[in-house]
Amino acid sequence: MAVTMDEIVSLCKRRGFIFQSSEIYGGFASTWDYGPLGVELKRNVKNAWWDAVVRQRDDMVGLDAAILMHPQTWVASGHVATFNDPLVDCKKCNSRFRADHVDLNAPCPVCGAVGSFTEPRQFNMMFRTAVGPVEKEDGSNIAYLRPETAQGIFVNFQNVQTTTRKKLPFGIAQIGKAFRNEITPGNFTFRTREFEQMEIEYFCRGEDAERLYKEWIEARFQWYLDLGIKRENLSLREHDLADLAHYSKGTTDIEYQFPFIDEPAELEGIANRSDYDLTQHAKFSGQKMSYFDQERNEHIVPHVIEPSAGADRATLAFLVDAYNEEEVKPGDTRVVLKFSPKLAPVKVAVLPLAKNKAPIVEVAKKLQKALIKKTDAVYDDTAAIGRLYRRQDEIGTPYCVTIDFDTIEKDNAVTVRDRDTMLQERVSLDQVEKYLLDKLEA
Ligand code: GAP
Repeated sequence: MAVTMDEIVSLCKRRGFIFQSSEIYGGFASTWDYGPLGVELKRNVKNAWWDAVVRQRDDMVGLDAAILMHPQTWVASGHVATFNDPLVDCKKCNSRFRADHVDLNAPCPVCGAVGSFTEPRQFNMMFRTAVGPVEKEDGSNIAYLRPETAQGIFVNFQNVQTTTRKKLPFGIAQIGKAFRNEITPGNFTFRTREFEQMEIEYFCRGEDAERLYKEWIEARFQWYLDLGIKRENLSLREHDLADLAHYSKGTTDIEYQFPFIDEPAELEGIANRSDYDLTQHAKFSGQKMSYFDQERNEHIVPHVIEPSAGADRATLAFLVDAYNEEEVKPGDTRVVLKFSPKLAPVKVAVLPLAKNKAPIVEVAKKLQKALIKKTDAVYDDTAAIGRLYRRQDEIGTPYCVTIDFDTIEKDNAVTVRDRDTMLQERVSLDQVEKYLLDKLEA
């Protein structure tokens, strides 16, 4: 049976993946905090992305731009004029909805009143703030929290190009926070007002854009599969041409079938954005945003392919996809997160069979200290071994290593338990580090 959202939220809280933000004050409007295991999991997701799209590619470089940018950025990008959601209120119960999320001729989904909706009005989703202590009446010190990381890349196009001397095609990648005043956030971390994006702007010649657009769709789809997402839960959705922004030549979403949303939902969008963004910034800044092609002796404005992913959404998809409940024997069920070892917050748990036997504890702690230099290894002696195994299963630790009496008295070997098969193997103590590292790499 598919996991429910309540089960995921409860596991995340119980084991320290994700907490409700400001919980002691009753929580705060769809904001979430990543706990000790969640921060490791999300960091592993971001590192896996960075590794695949920056470190492993010689046509890509990274960037970390500011969240607060010159307000003209958002005029040039079109966000001030068009980053709007249509909003309606129910006049009876004051509930607020996105106009495109409710049937305006049907009764209010909250109070059932008929004909109670206001006319839709446009609501800009950017968070505004004032730079300096007082907001000036003429609005001249208004700034926005960036609603996407992408614009930090576009405005740095020339800086990156001149400092790295990259030739087309090349891309710039960035991971960072973005903020949107969503009217209807929800579904846990799926739609929030503060979230993290992992974005690429891949610059190319116009005639290469269509081919590179297809290549990026394939590469990004494969990334989710390589990290363990089940093929049957992933899909591609090409946007209808009629729905595209005027500058867009195509957009395809990578979608995931979350169990708590009826339709597959967007994890990442890959867009062929033509030369729109650089042209706009050239126009509004008065600066040159072009590229000089030495071989052809010509200046061009590059086109751009934009694979834009959400770090929180991807993390949620990896959590949901990894979740399994298994009957170990009749009446005995375990919860196990079958994370790819690359994403698992803890890779190895070293467990002493008896916490009051000094020689066993000594060997266990020494092994954990050696392992932690190479991988994420923990020591735990806070419960009996059966319960310790279950706890590690529940947080997705691929391997447990148990030090027992035989380790000390007989064979100088340890028991390695595999999370997924629950099979146990005896491995010599002086080989176990290599054994584990090889398995984690495989
Ligand atoms: N620069 C293009 C851009 O921002 P987008 O489709 O609006 O495109 C890209 O956002 C990704 O950011 C989405 O696919 C999603 O994973 C994530 N995202 C967008 N809004 C979000 C929200 N309110 N909460 C969580 N993630 C969000």
